[in-house]
Amino acid sequence: MARDGAVYVCQACGAAHSKWAGQCNACGAWNTLVEEVQSRPPGALAPTRAAKQRGLAFETLESEVPAPPRIATGVEEFDRVCGGGVVPGSAILLGGDPGVGKSTLLLQVCGWAAQRGVRCAYISGEEAVEQVRGRAGRMGLSAAPVKLAAETAVRDIVDGLKREAFDLVVIDSIQTLWSDMHDSGPGSVTQVRAAAGELVRLAKKRGIAVVLVGHVTKDGQIAGPRVVEHMVDAVLSFEGERGYPFRILRAAKNRFGATDEIGVFEMGDSGLREVKNPSALFLNDGGERAAGAAVFAGIEGSRPVLVEFQALVAPSAYGTPRRAVVGWDSGRLAMVLAVLEARCGLGFGDKDVYLNVAGGLRISEPAADLAAAAALASSALDAPLPQDCVVFGEVSLSGEVRSVSRMESRLKEAAKLGFGRALGPAGAGDVAPFIITGVSRLADAVRRVGDQVWT
Ligand code: TYD
Ligand code: MG
Repeated sequence: MARDGAVYVCQACGAAHSKWAGQCNACGAWNTLVEEVQSRPPGALAPTRAAKQRGLAFETLESEVPAPPRIATGVEEFDRVCGGGVVPGSAILLGGDPGVGKSTLLLQVCGWAAQRGVRCAYISGEEAVEQVRGRAGRMGLSAAPVKLAAETAVRDIVDGLKREAFDLVVIDSIQTLWSDMHDSGPGSVTQVRAAAGELVRLAKKRGIAVVLVGHVTKDGQIAGPRVVEHMVDAVLSFEGERGYPFRILRAAKNRFGATDEIGVFEMGDSGLREVKNPSALFLNDGGERAAGAAVFAGIEGSRPVLVEFQALVAPSAYGTPRRAVVGWDSGRLAMVLAVLEARCGLGFGDKDVYLNVAGGLRISEPAADLAAAAALASSALDAPLPQDCVVFGEVSLSGEVRSVSRMESRLKEAAKLGFGRALGPAGAGDVAPFIITGVSRLADAVRRVGDQVWT
């Protein structure tokens, strides 16, 4: 028998159950139900409005008060991903693996913003004040007028933030907070939901931009994902491949801007450096481009970015050949391999295939199909692509090469970095001084790679 007030809450999706079970019947996750005692039954948490007269007051879409301007923090890559600065009264969730640099990024955001006159507070629930100070010292931000505190009790944080006026508040992290309204431990769904709810309410009420840090669980979700993600206005994720200094900031949800923007940073000894021109960074510059390499002219958000696709096709020693891919979708790789086999006569059945996007960037644009296919064909046929050639185009299952958006921006960026040729969809147009090899079928592109015919 469940005790009075006890509920079993799924730590993955937040669904509440009256009995414990091995599997959550809402999201299907195993072993995620944890007993959480609620001090008040759910639903009774909101104060009753019986005293007030009930009803609904309708408003117009037109606003009488102009929206307050966005707060530019000065960290331009961060501001752009937010949609041009943070919005007063909004809540942002920043997720990422432990150690990726979330605290570093937000301390830098606070430090830079404070130096521009933005009233900032940085509240750490994970590190002691001295530790944060030490980091600020290394980043050259000791003099920035950021108000710093180490605190985990939501009630104290909310009271403290009510006493002073702030524009931007960072809470690092949401999983360390606890609210005395609930008995369950910090980091549990109930606590995370309660703490986030209170801070979001505070943000709206007082016009503060609140940034909450959230740790990501093993399977890539922010703990208590559904319960926090729907409460906040924007969900950003900070990513980086192990072993690379590059860090990418992405928006997964943004009520105030586009979600396809990325911010690029480089982690160094004195914090994060903004990378204004990512193409130069992701390209494996210098040296001959070997067989198996193809430079993709891509678009990330509003910016064109050049990245190198590297493929290796090698005889397999095992019955089941290996397919390994870094930085691209493995399903997409399987599709491109199938099209190369079925439509272009290349056989991969007894070959191991490795595909890597250089520099640690993750590419999700369909326009990268042709670049991946060209890299694979180049490796399989041991024929390099021209040194100064970029590739872009979407490949369909029938083996057609389809045109993609913003071809001119792609080519312009490539021209800036010294490229003079492009392999792309037929009808890609003329962008002087480019020599464009237009192909309408993937088989044609493969033939050109094999025969080294580019005009
Ligand atoms: P941190 O911001 O603490 O990560 P998170 O908050 O996401 O857990 O960053 C930790 C890593 O960043 C750590 O491995 C050290 C590295 N780092 C640098 O390389 N240079 C720096 O200037 C700083 C502050 C951190
Ligand atoms: Mg941290």
